Amino acid sequence: MIEIRHLTKRFGDLTVLDDVSLTIHDGEIYGIIGQSGAGKSTLLRCINGLEPYQGGSITVDGREVAALGTQELHALQKTMGMIFQNFNLLSRLNVYDNVALPMRFAGLNPRQPENKKRILELIDLVGLSDKLKARPSDLSGGQMKRVAIARALVLKPRFLLCDEATSALDPRITQGILSLLNTIRDEMNITIVVVTHQMEVVKQICERVSFLKNSRLIQEGLPEELFVMPNEDIRAFLGKTDENLPQHGRNIRVYFMDNASEANLISHMARVLNVDFSICRADMEDFRGKMMGSMTLNVTEADAPRVLEYLKNAGCVVEEGI
Ligand SMILES: Nc1ncnc2c1ncn2[C@@H]1O[C@H](COP(=O)(O)OP(=O)(O)OP(=O)(O)O)[C@@H](O)[C@H]1O
Ligand SMILES: [Mg+2]
Repeated sequence: MIEIRHLTKRFGDLTVLDDVSLTIHDGEIYGIIGQSGAGKSTLLRCINGLEPYQGGSITVDGREVAALGTQELHALQKTMGMIFQNFNLLSRLNVYDNVALPMRFAGLNPRQPENKKRILELIDLVGLSDKLKARPSDLSGGQMKRVAIARALVLKPRFLLCDEATSALDPRITQGILSLLNTIRDEMNITIVVVTHQMEVVKQICERVSFLKNSRLIQEGLPEELFVMPNEDIRAFLGKTDENLPQHGRNIRVYFMDNASEANLISHMARVLNVDFSICRADMEDFRGKMMGSMTLNVTEADAPRVLEYLKNAGCVVEEGI
């Protein structure tokens, strides 16, 4: 378990993390999302002891990271595979040797049969068996990320820290990497921390997520708690605005928190109440297999009370006056 309490990190006068507290449980896929410069990469680097911090605490299984001696810190870092934002592959080494690199640093021989087997299995897991001898310059961006994932796993870590493992990749390759991360968690029983600025990533694989803004943690919870009914900061981050909604009648937003099959409620309502309305906006999204989201209706002032009564009686969460 990783516990972060009231963490403060400064670079000179610049406060990059301000009173950040969160807990990452064993075996979960935990997301950290926020704008560029919010402090996400720095937080990840504090967790694995690459950056010192000035206040608060980070404990891994109850041990304070800042209090570890050099040897203990190296031992901790071996349990934490890291995929860096710029993935740091060595251009002069081929795929096999890049994956093997942490073994070399740890004083292990990558040609020794058991180690070789491990390296080849990981390269197979990330789907690059036909690229063993390729150098990074001959690989696509998605392939380089996959080499970085294999490399991060080579020392059998307990934690995998991924910094933007899918940014700048096309949607199909992103899907491939996300399902790879899911497989890795399930098969290797690893705790995965995913730093990203992509809501897609969080929605699809994270069980819990924190949203960072300007060095502070604004909200922590289930992805659906943050994104189905987003607060103002998260709405701004997602670029969701209500600018183009009609200025006439009444705008009513209905939230579907459990299952989008409830959405047939809207057509049912139209039939039962015999009302017409416009659907101005609909944001239904897949959260780890469950459809959730909201729909914004524009109804006439005359119909609004009946529509609101119907929706509230049906147990829907409703927002008015948008
Ligand atoms: N080594 C450093 N020295 C000084 N300032 C730094 C250093 N590393 C990061 N910063 C600053 O800390 C802030 C947070 O940076 P960080 O890389 O953690 O952001 P981020 O959330 O990962 O952003 P991005 O989404 O662009 O990767 C930024 O203002 C950055 O300029
Ligand atoms: Mg970053």
